[in-house]
Amino acid sequence: MDTTRKIPEVSFFDFLKRALEIVKNPLPFHHDNFEKKGDTFILNLGFQKKILFSRNADFLKYALQKNQRNFTKSEVQTKDVAKYLGKGLLTSEGDLWKRQRKLIQPTFHKKFLTELLGIMKHTINTELSKIPVEKKINVEPYFGRLAFQVVAKSLFSGEVEEQTISRLQEIVEASQKMLVRELRQPYLGLWFKYGGLLDKHFAMVREGRELIKGIIYRRKASGDRKGDLLDLLLEAKYEDGANMEEEQMIDEIMILFTAGHETTSNALSFTCQLLAKHPEYQDKIVEEHLSVGEETDMMQTMMSQRITKQVLEEAMRLYPPAYFIDRMNLRQDTFDGMKIAPKTPLLFSVIEIHRHKDLWEKPMEFWPERFDGPPNQYSNQYFPFGAGPRMCIGNNFAMFEMQMVIAEVIRRFRILPKTDPIEILPLITLKPRKAFLEFEGRPEN
Ligand code: HEM
Repeated sequence: MDTTRKIPEVSFFDFLKRALEIVKNPLPFHHDNFEKKGDTFILNLGFQKKILFSRNADFLKYALQKNQRNFTKSEVQTKDVAKYLGKGLLTSEGDLWKRQRKLIQPTFHKKFLTELLGIMKHTINTELSKIPVEKKINVEPYFGRLAFQVVAKSLFSGEVEEQTISRLQEIVEASQKMLVRELRQPYLGLWFKYGGLLDKHFAMVREGRELIKGIIYRRKASGDRKGDLLDLLLEAKYEDGANMEEEQMIDEIMILFTAGHETTSNALSFTCQLLAKHPEYQDKIVEEHLSVGEETDMMQTMMSQRITKQVLEEAMRLYPPAYFIDRMNLRQDTFDGMKIAPKTPLLFSVIEIHRHKDLWEKPMEFWPERFDGPPNQYSNQYFPFGAGPRMCIGNNFAMFEMQMVIAEVIRRFRILPKTDPIEILPLITLKPRKAFLEFEGRPEN
């Protein structure tokens, strides 16, 4: 008996009808299709191009974990992103990825991260002091800078001039913007190429690589040990005893900057917007701060910040910075009776899984206490950091950083909303659109 079932298809005509709206924000179109066609559908983009969309959490786990060998990263990551950032963890595949992941994974172990907490805290305090009070501001640039500085200082401690770090941030952000333009406006490809825009961005990337090369060179020449990530990367050895080559290390550092700053900045902006709308959770965080206090063991303090952590988890459920995870199957595959032709581009909608009415009680409500259970209670339906072997290597780093930031923001300020409702801007990551807020100094500070 043939148990295969046909995957419902959304026609090219349906796509064309909403093309203008899709360029601005494709998420309502995807949502309507999921509601009409079910948790998995194929979108026909014309010219023989089709993409499979899914908000089936089991399917995501199948592709990212159970049968991950048959699902590679998409060309967007391995070619388009790699064109700017090189072949680091996020953009590599196969043996190169395996070798690099094995080498770098221990660097992000909780034990080593504990040593970075002091650097992180100092950087966070410095950056939060720059937030203007009693003024309507867009928080994004503040958190963007903060998140970049935290990665930069964790990598290079304090020995790199501010100017160099700011330039690196400009370069990383400009190349991300250019990539979005290339992906969203492929019909302008020739103009980008022959109008000199691509060359200009590649020149900037080369400049960024030279800056990083100089930092590595000076560290090696000084023979100093700073106890930062750069030390750990320089000391790490492959199984054959060799160290990472310089060009590969530059690729990895470019990737850490890119993967680690915008995602974190977005999550922080959304969290503050949610806290502004739900001031009762600001009060709960203050109460928690007073009861936990500042233990000398920073790791212990963070373990005790249960509410702060739950608020962040809930914010990333509703607004996952990595709102899509993309893959391509190498060979034909079958999931739940659905036959997937070889080399089908697949997009797993993390935001739809995180808001699925069959998976979550009151899915659209901000209700952080839903996370007040065992740590893995939602491991089959909650994927802010992905799943399987390619899961985010910086997840603990990001959680520690964000907990420190939110606890400190709320200790210093009362946050007032200045835009309602929260609006999204889905680019490579899910960003907030116009994250306007006001920060009012707390009288007790
Ligand atoms: C809230 C913050 C963050 C979010 C939501 C996030 C999310 C993710 C997700 C979903 C993936 C998997 C992508 C896929 O499977 O295609 C990933 C991979 C990755 N992330 Fe993060 N990330 C965050 C912060 C960070 C930080 C702080 C760093 C480093 C400092 C980092 C470094 C990486 C790297 C290197 C990879 C590639 C791992 C591999 O393929 O082996 N991320 N991240």
